[in-house]
Amino acid sequence: MESLNLTTKILVYNYEESPEAIKKLINEAKSATKRAYAPYSNFHVGAAILLSNGEVISGNNQENAAYPSGLCAERVTVFHANAQYPDIAVEAIAVAACNSEGEFTANPCSPCGGCRQVLLEVENRYNRPIKVILYGDSKIYELESAKALLPVGFGADSLFD
Ligand code: THU
Repeated sequence: MESLNLTTKILVYNYEESPEAIKKLINEAKSATKRAYAPYSNFHVGAAILLSNGEVISGNNQENAAYPSGLCAERVTVFHANAQYPDIAVEAIAVAACNSEGEFTANPCSPCGGCRQVLLEVENRYNRPIKVILYGDSKIYELESAKALLPVGFGADSLFD
């Protein structure tokens, strides 16, 4: 028997310590929370994606009275980016969340399992790591890839041997 010991590297810093490019992406994610449609959870999530052509695409969670029909901010944003720019790789995504009063979470907002799966697909699609920046008012987490968020994930190579 063997054991695989996986480690995840997470950079932890605060907004003031962030490089300018990261600050810009975080600001876009925070602004996008203002356009979220979250009347059921009152949890307003914003995401901003940096494409390899320099374009920034933002989006937010879109809820529905039939709860499962809503969609998270990360998927709204990445699907929009891929729909508009199918040939352009995703370089980075920033995520932020606040309540209806606009107060941001103290801790980093971390993507759900479904969003991790979608980000992994996009990373594999363009064969390029997606930097993941998770904003919190007291600390920010930065992961180097979607794979770091979802180790031992399901991908095309899992379908057939
Ligand atoms: N949500 C996101 O948009 N992204 C996340 O990373 C976590 C959760 C949304 C889904 C739902 O609209 C609300 O936040 C509460 O779960």
